Amino acid sequence: MSSLAARSAQALRSTARRAPRAAAKIVAKPAQTASYSLLARSAVAGSARRSTVETARGVKTLNFAGTEETVYERSDWPLAKLQDYLKNDTLAIIGYGSQGHGQGLNARDNGLNVIVGVRKDGESWRQAQEDGWVPGETLFPIEEAIGRGTVIMNLLSDAAQSQTWPTIAPLITKGKTLYFSHGFSVVYKDLTHVIPPADVDVILVAPKGSGRTVRTLFKEGRGINSSIAVFQDVTGKALEKATAIGVGVGSGYMYETTFQKEVYSDLYGERGVLMGGIQGMFLAQYKVLRANGHSPSEAFNETVEEATQSLYPLIGEKGMDYMYNACSTTARRGALDWAPIFEKANTPIFEQLYESVKNGTETKNSLEFNGRSTYREDLAKELKEIDEQEIWRAGKVVRSLRPDYKA
Ligand SMILES: NC(=O)c1ccc[n+]([C@@H]2O[C@H](COP(=O)([O-])OP(=O)(O)OC[C@H]3O[C@@H](n4cnc5c(N)ncnc54)[C@H](OP(=O)(O)O)[C@@H]3O)[C@@H](O)[C@H]2O)c1
Repeated sequence: MSSLAARSAQALRSTARRAPRAAAKIVAKPAQTASYSLLARSAVAGSARRSTVETARGVKTLNFAGTEETVYERSDWPLAKLQDYLKNDTLAIIGYGSQGHGQGLNARDNGLNVIVGVRKDGESWRQAQEDGWVPGETLFPIEEAIGRGTVIMNLLSDAAQSQTWPTIAPLITKGKTLYFSHGFSVVYKDLTHVIPPADVDVILVAPKGSGRTVRTLFKEGRGINSSIAVFQDVTGKALEKATAIGVGVGSGYMYETTFQKEVYSDLYGERGVLMGGIQGMFLAQYKVLRANGHSPSEAFNETVEEATQSLYPLIGEKGMDYMYNACSTTARRGALDWAPIFEKANTPIFEQLYESVKNGTETKNSLEFNGRSTYREDLAKELKEIDEQEIWRAGKVVRSLRPDYKA
């Protein structure tokens, strides 16, 4: 590939090498109880003081490629205003997996009243204690946490939300707010049987990233992009509450949607380009190279390494045309010719996938698999199969040669 692309990749690699040191510096600072993040407090102590008198700037309407959309942001909720707005609320984080961990710790660091509810003596109960949640004070069995909470944040796995709903539903009484991070349970109610009580607000804040990223970005003083939505507005304040809590759990920018659009796009995206599609595409390209006599290292470098280390970060940084421009004229010409061919070939597959999401097939499959008592072992077996594919075994060796490689 072009030397320009190679230089960009080198620059990206050296930035990546600097990143861990910066992160370590942030983590080393003392724990804090009232800030958007560790970094925010230490870096902008002056502006944090100003926030006590700051007022909301108001929502922003932005033109996204010709379509006006409303964006809510963290600066709409200066910290003092956020804490005041939620001072009489107790956020009950139910489930302490990836999202429970990230959202719970962020809300606690933001000085909000937070408790965690998980099944006693499970893995999450142990993990929560490790993170400083105290049994009987801030850590409770699920039913007790729901009883104590005013905002019930259902962050159990989607399959568990459905399995536990008969026990949980009667505890969600009038005056409480029901919160989700995915439209899954409510939208596919015919399959999940999750039907919220009619007399509570039902809101959604869905971070567009893993719970680990929700936490990492917060600690860096940044916020994650989230989708927000209202399913049921009993108080007339549901949207306002969703934006406030969204900021509380670590969102930077929040894009308004509906429960249905959130779940459709999310299931579609992760099965498509984000995860399923990319593994299928990588594998197909790699296999054809191997079948034509290319070595594993050559096939891997030309399929995965260059994509993830050089070209995809350029797309992330400044868009597709920027990446094209960073490559050689030879590469550009061929890519321009082949892109429409791939689009045409893939469109029917994406249409089939969207239909499968819409008609509930994907949800049915997910509930069936993730509801099995053996789901952890079954998943581990399938992931091991991927890990053992030649492409990913070759990748381990290629990665070990990177200057910033860590075992
Ligand atoms: N992870 C993401 O990247 C992501 C991103 C955006 C939104 N979301 C959404 O956020 C929500 C939470 O997802 P997550 O990935 O954080 O979930 P997860 O990591 O799969 O969380 C699992 C939690 O559910 C509990 N649990 C599982 N089965 C249970 C059962 N039968 N009874 C009681 N508790 C049970 C686990 O407790 P034990 O430890 O006791 O088993 C654990 O606390 C979901 O709606 C998900 O779609 C996730």
